[in-house]
Amino acid sequence: MSHNSSPQIVTTTKGEALTGTIRVPGDKSISHRSLMFGALAVGQTKIEGLLESEDVLATANAMNAVGASCHKHEDGHWTVDGVGLGSLLEPEHPIDFGNAGTGARLCMGIFASHPIAVTMVGDASLSRRPMGRVLDPLREMGTQVIARRGDRLPASIRGSETPLPLTYRVPMASAQVKSAVLLAGLNTPGTTTVIEPVATRDHTEKMLLGFGAELSVEVNAAGERVITLQGQPQLKPQSVTVPGDPSSAAFPIVAALIVPGSNVVVEGILLNEQRIGLITTLLEMGADITIENERESGGEKIGDIHVRHSNLKGVTVPAERAPSMIDEYPVLAIAAAFAQGDTTMLGLEELRVKESDRLAAVARGLEANNIPCIEGKDTLTVTGGATGIGGGTVETHLDHRIAMSFLVLGLAADKPVTVDDASPIATSFPSFLPLLKELGGTVRFQGENA
Ligand code: S3P
Repeated sequence: MSHNSSPQIVTTTKGEALTGTIRVPGDKSISHRSLMFGALAVGQTKIEGLLESEDVLATANAMNAVGASCHKHEDGHWTVDGVGLGSLLEPEHPIDFGNAGTGARLCMGIFASHPIAVTMVGDASLSRRPMGRVLDPLREMGTQVIARRGDRLPASIRGSETPLPLTYRVPMASAQVKSAVLLAGLNTPGTTTVIEPVATRDHTEKMLLGFGAELSVEVNAAGERVITLQGQPQLKPQSVTVPGDPSSAAFPIVAALIVPGSNVVVEGILLNEQRIGLITTLLEMGADITIENERESGGEKIGDIHVRHSNLKGVTVPAERAPSMIDEYPVLAIAAAFAQGDTTMLGLEELRVKESDRLAAVARGLEANNIPCIEGKDTLTVTGGATGIGGGTVETHLDHRIAMSFLVLGLAADKPVTVDDASPIATSFPSFLPLLKELGGTVRFQGENA
């Protein structure tokens, strides 16, 4: 899980059109939350379609370490025998969250209102990421924290026996911060309120309601989302079917758009409004994308996304759209390299604190492949249509989405594109490279015969 072993150098090369009907793994956000909420319920939660990636498996281990029992069955479904809200056990050893920001931050929220001491560690990428954004409100609720590296992992937290409810206005557009405070509020007597000036993905709210929490969401006169949670409910186990992850689907979608002649369907994708900013943007760029077979599953809209190769044009992506496509900017930058004219992306400050500084990592990767771009403090402009692109080796900085984005670039660039380490792809999309090959992509591991 730590990716300390030898790096996996992978190259993709321009080749045939991509064709086929595929499925991508289950949504990462929903997978993490299914395991966590299942662990906090009394009884057995059943999960179909769980994303079995390193990040999510780290969450399963974390829940097992505090007394729940997450278990995979022969037919592929998972069950979680919940330990019940308020009854988490103190783990015997430090918990390793690997590369997973969502796992670590949401679990901090859960542990914060349980009287247990937990030491949390992560890989080099996670150990660089800011945790103060979550630890600060949790301290206000009474959690004790020892984090000697300036509120970064490794950190030890001791949850409060008598946690205090909080009203908290989230200072940055972050579903993880919102969720951590709400999850701490679950085992806190009284009312916890989170005010969200900018709406972010709402899986925590929707799923907590499904598990039986008392929660309401209103929009106040200033247009802010106000989420009110009554503490100490008895959570009831659920049957969860995890839809396909739109953030993973983004890679084959952009690949199909930029490889001439391609025609690809990605089935069963979550179409939650807070997650489909990339589709909106690609449509504005002139992409031939249709949503087929739209249906509802577990309170969410899902559908099949049909994509054909398209002539794209550059657009300006407004800052307000950032929360609904926050994980998709790296691959949008690849689409932008094939569009006529400039694509300018605004409001990207949160990209600086992802698995890598994604704004810098994308800009360096584009430059290494002769794609003109301008990196601003919180903006990126990519000039499309350059010739002779590709041929570079991209530093992925333990960031799965940087690796996948540039491997998509190689499928359509004039020269092959290499990533210095594809192993972090296993954190979110372990079947990515086999799927690219299945669609007709040319993928080569270092040491493999050409
Ligand atoms: C996530 C929220 C987002 C996103 C991450 C998953 C979640 O992070 O980037 O991949 O499941 O809540 P932020 O909340 O920090 O923006």
